[in-house]
Amino acid sequence: MSKLKEKLLSKINSWRPRTTRLLKEYSNVKVGEVNIGQVIGGARDVKCLVTDISYLDPNEGIRFRGYTIPEVLDKLPKVPGCEMPYVEGFFYLLLTGDLPTAEDIDDIKEEFNKRQHVPEYVFDVLRAMPIDSHPMVMFSMAILSMQKESVFNKKYEEGHLHKQDYWDPTYEDGLNLLAKLPQIAAFIYRLKYKNGEIIKPDVSLDLGGNFAHMMGVKKPYDDVSRLYFILHSDHESGNVSAHTGHLVASALSDIYYAISSMINGLAGPLHGLANQEVLKWLHEVYEKMGGKIPTEEEMRKFVWDTLADGQVIPGYGHAVLRKTDPRYTAQREFCLKHMADDPLFKYVDVIYKVTPSILLEQGKAKDPWPNVDAQSGVIQWYYGVREYDFYTVLFGVGRALGVVANIIWDRALGYPIERPKSVTTKMLEDIAGIKN
Ligand SMILES: CC(C)(COP(=O)(O)OP(=O)(O)OC[C@H]1O[C@@H](n2cnc3c(N)ncnc32)[C@H](O)[C@@H]1OP(=O)(O)O)[C@@H](O)C(=O)NCCC(=O)NCCS
Repeated sequence: MSKLKEKLLSKINSWRPRTTRLLKEYSNVKVGEVNIGQVIGGARDVKCLVTDISYLDPNEGIRFRGYTIPEVLDKLPKVPGCEMPYVEGFFYLLLTGDLPTAEDIDDIKEEFNKRQHVPEYVFDVLRAMPIDSHPMVMFSMAILSMQKESVFNKKYEEGHLHKQDYWDPTYEDGLNLLAKLPQIAAFIYRLKYKNGEIIKPDVSLDLGGNFAHMMGVKKPYDDVSRLYFILHSDHESGNVSAHTGHLVASALSDIYYAISSMINGLAGPLHGLANQEVLKWLHEVYEKMGGKIPTEEEMRKFVWDTLADGQVIPGYGHAVLRKTDPRYTAQREFCLKHMADDPLFKYVDVIYKVTPSILLEQGKAKDPWPNVDAQSGVIQWYYGVREYDFYTVLFGVGRALGVVANIIWDRALGYPIERPKSVTTKMLEDIAGIKN
């Protein structure tokens, strides 16, 4: 058994009695009150999911295994000569809850390296797709095409797989898939936008370094990639992508089905696609302004015009957060250090100055502050990755780290198939005392 897997097993064994006790002894304890607004309104704030991998406080932002973003960036071992930590070490933290040592990082790098080979048929599938397919469709299809490799599925079909052991082949599937995603993502990019000139992986590099190499983008794009994958990895369990992954896996569909589905959820403009929308919107302002940096007054007008058109301001607002997203702040700090004079970054800066007060004045959005997507595309653009419909694929590579870790733990703790109860509109009207 690999060291990482051994460590995970000891964590699972000590965690299981806690879940069992809650279910056996405290099942009837009430957790909040659900109201009609929540029943119709997308289950906002309904506490009915459990994860120990990340927690999103509305006023503080995300913590990964108890660590804030600045703590994660500070405490995790860094790639030599680089500013950002190893993605591999970050995954170790998500999976085990412990900070990795240098030895743990070598171990998990080795785990990923031996699993990174992508079957040739995946590339054939991608080459066979219409070249104008959206990169998220290509990414989802590539992942789904590998379902026949599922270790969980094979073991399950053979029989004799005890429920307590479901996590083990799920772990194998999860690591096998995570190790391949950077190469698949970079392949899609090069196939679609770089005349199919594919760059072979360099397994001597860490995950972030290898990704930048396969994309064909020079330093510090390796650090941009590490930062990007870490920041996008997890945002507790209720967001569309994480929840979709969890939901699909709860039916014991394997990791390939679950991650392909979570990618499909991420592709919506209200979720992961917002980073692409931000860039599209920024360029509209840029063209209108003829490249000149807008004054706050000019930008204010543009924001109001967008709202008057019935559109949302992409990159602003959040279903849970009620402050500037710390993922936005981390990227902003990177921009201030590396690309403070970039014109598009200056646009983002002016937007930040004017938009929250406009959204507050409009009085609809509960959160007027920027989220992760308001900043991320601008960095990609600056480093030459300008095909912005690709940006959500990067989000997907990162999000898979968190969703895979969650699904392994879902299986380890024996969470059942998810099945919330629905009611009819008439039932709600009766509860509300409405007479038609
Ligand atoms: C993220 C988002 C989907 C959350 O949705 P939500 O939880 O329903 O948000 P709220 O409860 O604050 O929405 C209340 C109202 O404010 C509006 N609103 C929210 N964010 C807004 C924004 N950025 N611009 C304009 N209007 C916004 C909503 O559309 C809704 O309007 P409605 O009552 O006419 O339907 C939403 O803020 C949004 O669409 N943001 C822009 C897209 C984006 O950046 N997505 C990435 C999220 S990480």
